[in-house]
Amino acid sequence: MDVVVRPCASAEEVKQAIAPITTYFGRSAPNQDAMERLMRVMPTERIYGAWEGGRAVGGLGAFPFQQTVPGGRVPAAGVTIAGVLPTHRRQGILRAMMRALLDAARARGEPVASLWASEGTIYGRFGFGLASFAAEMDLARDRSAFYAPFPTCGRVRLVSLDAAEELVAPIYERVAVETPGMFARSPTWWQARILTDPEWRRRGSGDLQCAVLEHEGRPRGYALYRINPAFKRGVQTGSIEVIEAMADSPQATRGIWRYLLDIDWVAHVKADLLPMDHPLLLLMAEPRRLGFSLHDGLWVRLLDVETAMSARSYEARGSLVVELIDEFCCWNAGCWRVGSDGVERTDESPGLRCDVSALGSVYLGGFSWSQLARALRVQELLPGAIAHADTIFQTGKAPWCPEIF
Ligand SMILES: CC(C)(COP(=O)(O)OP(=O)(O)OC[C@H]1O[C@@H](n2cnc3c(N)ncnc32)[C@H](O)[C@@H]1OP(=O)(O)O)[C@@H](O)C(=O)NCCC(=O)NCCS
Repeated sequence: MDVVVRPCASAEEVKQAIAPITTYFGRSAPNQDAMERLMRVMPTERIYGAWEGGRAVGGLGAFPFQQTVPGGRVPAAGVTIAGVLPTHRRQGILRAMMRALLDAARARGEPVASLWASEGTIYGRFGFGLASFAAEMDLARDRSAFYAPFPTCGRVRLVSLDAAEELVAPIYERVAVETPGMFARSPTWWQARILTDPEWRRRGSGDLQCAVLEHEGRPRGYALYRINPAFKRGVQTGSIEVIEAMADSPQATRGIWRYLLDIDWVAHVKADLLPMDHPLLLLMAEPRRLGFSLHDGLWVRLLDVETAMSARSYEARGSLVVELIDEFCCWNAGCWRVGSDGVERTDESPGLRCDVSALGSVYLGGFSWSQLARALRVQELLPGAIAHADTIFQTGKAPWCPEIF
């Protein structure tokens, strides 16, 4: 039977389009609450189903993001819920859904798409390049001393989830707007995805708690976390799971983390989705005790090279000519002059040649051109072109996305 890819037209169709990914989480049907929350932040027409005889055998959707890039923000498609039923895998269904979704995103004026990949093998073929990392830590609390004592910064108070948004959202926004990879959160996003604690999200952990650090009369940092208490022969063995800790100054960052590391009754402080250049690495007396380990974070795909490359800033004045290979979105292929004076097609000889996925890797500043060259992901066609490109593209902050979407 033929499979047709088209956007969903109703809540019932959305439920069907989410069902394929749900099966891989071990469930026979989507959780109603999870589905309603998704529909609050993703328009129905941005959720694609692959329909066979009136039933969805695959699903793919995109959040309409405003995502930070070096020096600005761009409209971006936040690709998610990719799933094809085990009965229909490897028949080109994801490919067909990706075609429809990326074409529509480009037509909507989104020059960039980004996603979190369940497996690194899936998305390179569609032009996505690894663009950021996320770090995990698991710290024994009794080894959590900082390299030096410091004066207390402000005070921390616990707030209810109901009262949290007006305190924490402005802090998040101040961090997000200057951190490539982070996206703006709407009030609906805060309520539907972040400051919410339904039973099904706890997975056996404690309640979601929110602590806010106030300094110089205003909120400067916050932490969302759960406590998992446990004892063995009367000795604490439990942990704190930090869901998100964010602050808008180095003092507030240090203060909110000291708060988390000092909570009694737990043996371990665990966190994931941290930036790879997290200040804790230099704050700790024993950095190795963090057990800091990296895994891949965002994958980025440039849908419209001219608009995407024009939307970011360049550290040094100058430009370079890149010959781009782009098999999936062939309108991007060819030679581009890119740099501080703009982005345009050119007939000039290129200094570099690479696939569009490599451009996705350098776009947010997560990789340098030299790193790409050492991994044979870019060809240097003119001597010195890699070093020149590095000076133009360099950024001061590692890209970071604190949330899997
Ligand atoms: C990943 C998934 C969506 C792929 O769907 P699919 O319909 O089988 O993919 P397609 O048939 O369109 O495959 C397109 C190409 O990707 C390859 N591919 C797809 N999934 C792959 C995977 N997990 N590992 C390696 N290659 C993969 C196919 O071999 C094919 O290669 P080709 O173009 O060289 O022929 C599906 O396997 C799935 O639902 N997996 C479990 C859930 C999941 O991981 N979702 C992704 C969440 S980020």
